[in-house]
Order: sequence, then structure tokens, then C-alpha cells
Amino acid sequence: MRFDDMGNTCVVGLQWGDEGKGKLVDVLVRHFDLVVRFSGGANAGHTIVADGETFALHQLPSGVLHEHVTGMIACGSVIDPAVLLGEIQSLRERGVDIGDRLRISHRAQLVFPYHRRQDMLAEQAALPGGKLGTTARGIGPCYADKVSRRWGIRVCELYHAQRFRERLATIVAHKNAYLVALYDFREPFDALAITEEYLNFAEQMRPVVCDTTLLLHERMKAGARVLFEGAQGSLLDIDHGTYPYVTSTSTGVGAVVSGAGVPPAAIHSTVGVIKAYTTRVGSGPFPTELSGALGDTIRERGGEYGTTTGRPRRCGWFDTVAAGYAAMIARPTCLAVMHLDTLSGLDELKVCVGYRNGPAISNHFPADAYELQAAQPLYETLPGWDAELSGCRRLADLPAAARDYLELISTRLATPIGVVGVGPEREQVILIENGA
Ligand code: IMP
Repeated sequence: MRFDDMGNTCVVGLQWGDEGKGKLVDVLVRHFDLVVRFSGGANAGHTIVADGETFALHQLPSGVLHEHVTGMIACGSVIDPAVLLGEIQSLRERGVDIGDRLRISHRAQLVFPYHRRQDMLAEQAALPGGKLGTTARGIGPCYADKVSRRWGIRVCELYHAQRFRERLATIVAHKNAYLVALYDFREPFDALAITEEYLNFAEQMRPVVCDTTLLLHERMKAGARVLFEGAQGSLLDIDHGTYPYVTSTSTGVGAVVSGAGVPPAAIHSTVGVIKAYTTRVGSGPFPTELSGALGDTIRERGGEYGTTTGRPRRCGWFDTVAAGYAAMIARPTCLAVMHLDTLSGLDELKVCVGYRNGPAISNHFPADAYELQAAQPLYETLPGWDAELSGCRRLADLPAAARDYLELISTRLATPIGVVGVGPEREQVILIENGA
């Protein structure tokens, strides 16, 4: 594989999110003209370290930090205008002006303050199964309103002020009644105030709102190279993930087709992004979780704290059953194994190669979250390595034990490795072209 010849490429996470997609996009982006977000919203947290400066983006596609790139937020995404405009402003204050390089879909759904509140109240309420541990960005309630077809509002509706006013008044009255009926909710939303706030946002967003689907097809026809930037991870996918401990959208390659509005044949390559170990933020089953000192060590070394919420991430060994299931669905062209450097200095490394459930042994990823919770991981143990990896730029620079570790993952996921992350900086990466 050659990185300058990948065609339109989809970057998709094969674990529970936070695999390092932001950094990978940053590394690959020089080969692309357009970077498109196709699902999710400001629940995403992409961290990019460039020239020693750290940028954390939630709503904007991370590729937009590069001057040659147009960033797109396509119709499968949800947009929180306060977050979007805040991010644009804070980038400007740090000397990054994205100017005319952003387009957002007029079909995308809008996140409103009542979505965020509903998300928080639902989490606080004692529901069967306990908390989901959401990012509290209002994502679930917003997608639920979209699918209901009664309460969702698209970006294009902001530009018909009278109709927007009327719809929002009805919707806010409904939301207030709903929240009062279900939760301890005593500060009803003021429809007029939200209307004025959003009409103001609409004017600020006007220059970048368009039919991104049409624009994307025009640009592809003209030869533009497109990078589809996935958010969250495959195991958080609403259909394929550890339901109900998932996000509200499809997160995989299929979501590119529906969320960006392109045919499957328009995606020429897929990079499956994994972390060299596993992390999860929020609730849900995690068979290889390390709850003791080792988990803390990995968390501190890897800086494993949520980009969106600051929550400590749960850390554990690499799980080839879980990631293998995601790889089967995505069938990536290659893997990007990020954060390998975090594992330096551990005496030995474990890799989960199967689950034991009672007497049964399986290498199948179960549908039932409770079954997965009960699964005991079966490990293969490999020797660790001491060397610091951040200076490695070729596979041959890695210690033999690190190469063996990568080989095991690649074999189990039946996918060649194309990228290895050896540090947070843009250049701290090994790019493997044609096997070397
Ligand atoms: P929501 O997407 O905010 O509804 O959260 C649902 C679940 O997905 C929670 O466990 C979140 O922690 C998780 N989640 C959502 N977005 C991300 C992400 O970008 N990285 C990691 N986990 C995420």
C-alpha cells in the first residue's frame, strides 16, 4: 500500500473510541483535499499535537487544522452551533483561521440546550441497567428527535425564521412537559430566548451552510481526494456495539455511505485504527479491563483522560476478539496501531485471544452486554520491551518484542499494519509502505 495512492479513504475506530483517529487524520491529511465528518457530533474528542501545541476538537473535522483542507460536516452528523462557533473562535485566537475552509450540511440536525439537559437528567435518573456514562452533549436525545420525525430540526430550517419560531415554540413546550413529567426539572426552557440565540447562530453560520452532498460529489468529480473522518469506535456502534452502552449512531464504514451520501464504491481504502491496548470511557462491558495499579500506570503514561469530559478512561489489555469483530465488519485495507510507545517498560504484555464463559470457550464477540460482562478473557502472554520508541521511524527500528506484539495483532485481525504511532507528535509515527 502507498499512502499517496489510497484513493478516498475512511478512517474508522475498531475499539470503544479514542483510538487515536485525530492524530492519524493529521498524519494522512497531506494526501487529501477534503476531510468529511459523517456521523456523531460534539461527543467526539480529537486530540492533535502539532509543534508542541495541543488542539482538542469536538465538532470540527480535525483535518481542518491544515491550510490546504476543506472540512465538511455532512448530513449524518448533528451540529451544536454553540460548540461549533466556539471552536472556530478559539482556533482563531490561537492563530488558526479556518476562514472559508468549512462547509456544513443544511440537512444536518441541530443540537439544542434541551437535548443536553435531557441527556443529563436521563443519566441522573436511576434507570434499569444504570448510567450509560454519556458525554452529556445531548447526542442521544438529538438523534432520538431526528428519528421521531416530529421534534428534530435541521440546519436549513434556521433560514425560514417564522416557520422556525413556530416549530421551536411547539417543540420547547413539548420538551418542558416531557422533562417535568419524567424528571426533577424545575427550570423550563424559554422558547423565545432559544429562538433568538439560534437565529443569531444561523447568521454566523450562513456562509458555510450548503448542500454538502452535492458539493462532495462535485469535488469528487473534479478529482478531489477525500478522507472520511470517523468518530467514536465500532464497538460503540448503535447496531454492532455493546448495546445499550453505545452511542446513538452508526460509527463504521456504512455510516459514510448514509451520512455523507456517497456510494460504497466511492470509498477506496479503509484504515482501521486501534490503540495498542484498550480503553473505554463511560459504562459498559470491558472484559480485559485492568482495575489495579497496572491500569493506572497505562492511564498515566498514555494520558488516558477523556478529551470531551476529562473523565479517566478505563484501561486494559488488547482484545483481539472485540477488535477482530470490528475488523471483520470494516474489513480495513490496513491497521493503524496507535500508542505503542505507552507500553514500553512493562515486563510482559497480555493479548486477549478468546473468552471463557462458564465451561464454554469462544472467540466470538457476544451480542448481549451482560454475557460480555461475564466473559473471562483468555490471554496469550508476550515479553515486553524497555526501549523508548518515540524516535523509531521504521519497523526495523522497533525492538523485536514490539514487532512480535504487532505481528500477533495483525495476524489475529487478519489485516496488515500500515501505521504505528510511537508518540503524540505529528512526526512520531512509522509509516509502512509495501511491508517495510
Ligand atoms: P454519547 O455518545 O454521549 O451518547 O455517549 C455514549 C457512550 O459513547 C458513552 O460511553 C461515551 O463515553 C461514549 N463516547 C461517545 N463519544 C465518544 C468518543 O468520541 N470517544 C470515546 N467514547 C465516546
